[in-house]
Amino acid sequence: MDFNRWASLLMCSIAFANSQDMNKSACTFAHDKLTYFCSGIVDAFPSTYYGAYNIKCTGCVIPVFQPGTFPASGEIPSFNLSNSGIENITSGAFATLPKLRYLYLQNNKIFGIEPGAFKGLKQIYELNLEHNEMTYIMAGIFNGLNALAVHLGHNHIKEILPGSFDGVDQIITFNLSFNDIAILHMDSFKGLQNMEILDLQHNKICYIPLGLFQYSDVLKGLDLKGNKLRYFMPGTFSGLKRLLTINLANNEFSEFDPSLLLPMASIYYLDISRNNLFYLDSQSLHASAPTVKLLMINDNLWDCPMLTNLIRYFKGVGIDTFGTGNGRYDVTNINGIMCLLGSVTYAMPFNHYMDLVKASSDKHINYC
Ligand SMILES: *[C@@H]1O[C@H](CO)[C@@H](O)[C@H](O)[C@H]1NC(C)=O
Ligand SMILES: *[C@@H]1O[C@H](CO)[C@@H](O)[C@H](O)[C@H]1NC(C)=O
Ligand SMILES: *[C@@H]1O[C@H](CO)[C@@H](O)[C@H](O)[C@H]1NC(C)=O
Ligand SMILES: *[C@@H]1O[C@H](CO)[C@@H](O)[C@H](O)[C@H]1NC(C)=O
Repeated sequence: MDFNRWASLLMCSIAFANSQDMNKSACTFAHDKLTYFCSGIVDAFPSTYYGAYNIKCTGCVIPVFQPGTFPASGEIPSFNLSNSGIENITSGAFATLPKLRYLYLQNNKIFGIEPGAFKGLKQIYELNLEHNEMTYIMAGIFNGLNALAVHLGHNHIKEILPGSFDGVDQIITFNLSFNDIAILHMDSFKGLQNMEILDLQHNKICYIPLGLFQYSDVLKGLDLKGNKLRYFMPGTFSGLKRLLTINLANNEFSEFDPSLLLPMASIYYLDISRNNLFYLDSQSLHASAPTVKLLMINDNLWDCPMLTNLIRYFKGVGIDTFGTGNGRYDVTNINGIMCLLGSVTYAMPFNHYMDLVKASSDKHINYC
């Protein structure tokens, strides 16, 4: 055999071995991280035995994740599929991974999830679907799921349809923050009777239907900060017997009737900061919710006499109104809670109120 021919044959077989290697080793094991790093998966993962190690996809593009996409079964504790171009997850997609504790699906393009997609996942600590393209929650997509936490933040969900969670096993912490939710129905959260934390901050909710919390017997934390709530009907919060904290900051209400808090037998933290309140019945608040210990009232439309009375009264009954947040100390204030010299007897846009406070604070500076 002449040398040239031998050499080119050799090169050829090396190239062949390499290309085979690349396909074979789509998943490589990193001992230090106890993780298989799988790269370039388009269709299906290699069907080998993964043991009880973590899996992380890098540079994968998997438009439809379906049964068979991950053909192996195993005791995989954590599966990181973020940034993998996923658009759709079909029914039973993860059925072979009953031991999964962490399922990271954030930063994909998921808009379609079929009912039963997460069926069989009974030990989930965290199911993360943040930063996807979901516009609604199709009934049944969380059927059979048992999770400590589900994160759906930063999607485009507009409405929670009644019965969306009818077949859910349980979800303890449910995070729906930073969506476009404007419409809730009385039965929107039916099926989530074990839910303890509900985060709805930064949506577009302007109205809470009566009966929404009738299934929320064990809810402990409710975050409604940064919505468009303007008005609460008596009964709005009925059902929240065990609630400990409620955040209503950064909404648009100019009245707050403390008897709304009557259903909350153990509430201890209430945040009504950054609304359009210029009046608050402090005695009624204490009488309706004597368990409240921490009350955030900053950035409302207080005048200084009103704020003085509020703080005096709350101090007398052991309610802390100062918290630890950033205060406004460059205008007339009490411990950073801004107030207007003079009187406020009607609601006005917050910016207008702030201008008034600034102007009057400047006017009263005494140079000697
Ligand atoms: C991997 O295998 C596929 C067929 O399954 C083939 O088309 C492709 O060329 C292979 N890739 C490499 C880098 O060898
Ligand atoms: C999952 O992978 C992404 C990158 O693909 C990374 O940013 C993220 O930190 C990982 N998450 C976890 C919990 O390992
Ligand atoms: C994608 O998901 C939707 C459910 O939202 C389903 O109706 C549809 O058939 C799925 N498409 C594919 C290609 O699996
Ligand atoms: C919900 O998600 C948002 C956005 O990722 C985060 O800021 C917030 O802390 C989460 N809330 C809970 C209760 O985990």
